[in-house]
Amino acid sequence: MSEPVSPSHRNRAIGTVAMRWHGDRLDLLDQRVLPAEESWLSHHDASSVASSIRDMVVRGAPAIGISAGYGVALAALQSSSNGWREAIEEAMTELAESRPTAVNLFWALRQMRNVLDACSTRGQAAERLAKTAIRLHEDDLSANLAMAEHALGVMDQTAPFAVLTHCNTGALATGGYGTALGVVRHLHEKKLLTQVYADETRPWLQGSRLTAWELAREGIPVTLNADSAAAAIMAQGEVKWVIVGADRITANGDVANKIGTYSLAVLARYHKVKFMVVAPASTVDMELASGRDIPIEQREGRELLQVQGVPIAPPGIDVYNPVFDVTPANLIDAIVTERGVVYEPGVSGMKGLF
Ligand code: MRU
Repeated sequence: MSEPVSPSHRNRAIGTVAMRWHGDRLDLLDQRVLPAEESWLSHHDASSVASSIRDMVVRGAPAIGISAGYGVALAALQSSSNGWREAIEEAMTELAESRPTAVNLFWALRQMRNVLDACSTRGQAAERLAKTAIRLHEDDLSANLAMAEHALGVMDQTAPFAVLTHCNTGALATGGYGTALGVVRHLHEKKLLTQVYADETRPWLQGSRLTAWELAREGIPVTLNADSAAAAIMAQGEVKWVIVGADRITANGDVANKIGTYSLAVLARYHKVKFMVVAPASTVDMELASGRDIPIEQREGRELLQVQGVPIAPPGIDVYNPVFDVTPANLIDAIVTERGVVYEPGVSGMKGLF
């Protein structure tokens, strides 16, 4: 039971891998210590997976959902013949409490719950839940490859151009290849990319620690910039698209994503740069009417008060640290999913596809 299962698709290079399922354990690449260390943490039960999601060992909306799926599978494997169903349900509750904004977590748990409801023995649950978690992982990778194709269809391909991205939406944040960063990878494969500007993404630095690392190790031309440099970069005219991922997309096309995304959308509109959101259908939450209904995670002030344990602000100062914001649909040119593209998203376009 120790050979890792990693989805392979059409033998295409899919980049870095962040999760490895071994049949009886889940290994996660510890994203808190990248790029200084490449360290893998093993998880044998759902509680440790929930802690790793909460502490951001694994992060990024699709990767959170997939890890939670494996967490449920581990709960089934660990359960005993007495009270197995209750134990798995408890694990699902704990996983659901790990992070609030990315709807992929709740979507994945719903898939697992549907399978659990149809199981009548512990053995059946252990087998079927593991299979379902692997399927969620593989489907996410397939969705990313499909989105990259759709996205290129939206772009003018007459000459190579630069793009700007925010946070990390790559192989580290997904089942592989990436959402927005999958589009970047595909542009590079097609020789359409001059370079990608990567916002450093304060305060957790997903851009500098993860995106820059992920792209540089694959030889994709990446330039790191402070978040506050985005306006000046757009004013230079080389960037044609801002491409970002999403944590939740509501029925009217509003998009929650990493804090700072909304300001990029405002800047892009001012500079006539196109703004694209790339996310799988598992990120769409048609039950919420608008972005105002999305729960926005607030994280601890320490993320702003320190850098790697070194204080960078006066002790005891008040901190406001919402880690996501909502970009209104009217600032978005296209939402790209594996099902197709919603142009100038709004209620009717979203309803048409979802
Ligand atoms: O706090 P994080 O690192 O989990 O936030 C991640 C993001 O905001 C990503 O942009 C989003 O999840 C899309 S990942 C494909």
